[in-house]
Amino acid sequence: MTRRLQYAKEEILAEPGYASRNRYEGRDFHGGFDAAGKYMPPRSLHRPQAIAAWTSVIAAAGEPTEVVRMSEVDRVFFPSVGQAKLLLRSGARDAMTRMLTLIGVTEGFGNDGIRALPQLDPRQLYVEPMDETCVGHLWKGLFEAHGNDEAGRGEEAGHDEMWYAIRDASLGHPTITPDMFENLPIAPPPGYSGPAKAAPQALRVSSLTSQLFPDQLDPMFEITLTALTQILVIELMAFSTFAWARDVLGDGRCSAAPEFAAGMIDCIQADEAIHVAYLQCALAETRMRTLRSTAGGTIPGNVVIDAIARKVVAENTGGRWERMNRYRMGQIRRELEDRDDGRRILEEFAEFGPVPASESSGVNAPA
Ligand SMILES: [Fe+2]
Ligand SMILES: [Fe+2]
Repeated sequence: MTRRLQYAKEEILAEPGYASRNRYEGRDFHGGFDAAGKYMPPRSLHRPQAIAAWTSVIAAAGEPTEVVRMSEVDRVFFPSVGQAKLLLRSGARDAMTRMLTLIGVTEGFGNDGIRALPQLDPRQLYVEPMDETCVGHLWKGLFEAHGNDEAGRGEEAGHDEMWYAIRDASLGHPTITPDMFENLPIAPPPGYSGPAKAAPQALRVSSLTSQLFPDQLDPMFEITLTALTQILVIELMAFSTFAWARDVLGDGRCSAAPEFAAGMIDCIQADEAIHVAYLQCALAETRMRTLRSTAGGTIPGNVVIDAIARKVVAENTGGRWERMNRYRMGQIRRELEDRDDGRRILEEFAEFGPVPASESSGVNAPA
């Protein structure tokens, strides 16, 4: 059987036949379930199979199908599962409320972030024909599907609202304060009009525009490849965050809705697996192709993609990760300092994993 490699945009966006939809407390979320109760991601009538088919072409050529491996960006999440559970068991819900709000806010950037990417024509950028590749379908449904998955489409809620529902159900509808939308580690994309504000050292679009291949690659093309690699790294890092959240919020001792939380996080992770797969595929295809230079020559795709991947991985690990953990610890410390039993909880907290020094400046630093 030959696998199909070309699809219309409507096919990429087409919904599968659901037996039931994903609803909770009167709210419609994307995706649904088959007759056996198995989750079916949104826009998945053809999308996952198409990505698998394009990926199999790369593998058949003996080329790598991943441009960034999980092991390159995987970090131990802070607070640890044990630390987070201790906080929730002790009734200290502020840090968890902040983290879940932050995840939701970041997911909510999806539609605006994807729409901010330039509209490019692969025929002008690649020497080889790209009609039967993942790259050839980025502007034919794949980007639109991705943005919709993250931030919703019409009345149907996406990942942002799914995380808020998980937060509210499992933490008993905690109070959400405006400062929870400030000092984000990722800057809102152009076009975003919500309440989120970035931290001074946040990742922002301007960091995407410092070119590694000036005078060689069309700047819009390099920005797009860098942005896709950046999104891929965020998606890969999110896997461990989501597994952590599932572990913590699926525990009935610290969650008011353990089954709902675990089930909803499973749905989100199934959707995210599609994002990781198409981003890896499009970048791996680019890596094995020949790119047109602005001067009329060519550049091997592997030179470009390997350099971009190194740069993006370096930017996302190391100091940035440690800064985020110190900032989180500052918030945890501040919440516990207001409590009579805060010192005892902090002592026990240290028994469940490493404790970073907390941030010495910034709005959420301890007094
Ligand atoms: Fe997402
Ligand atoms: Fe995603």
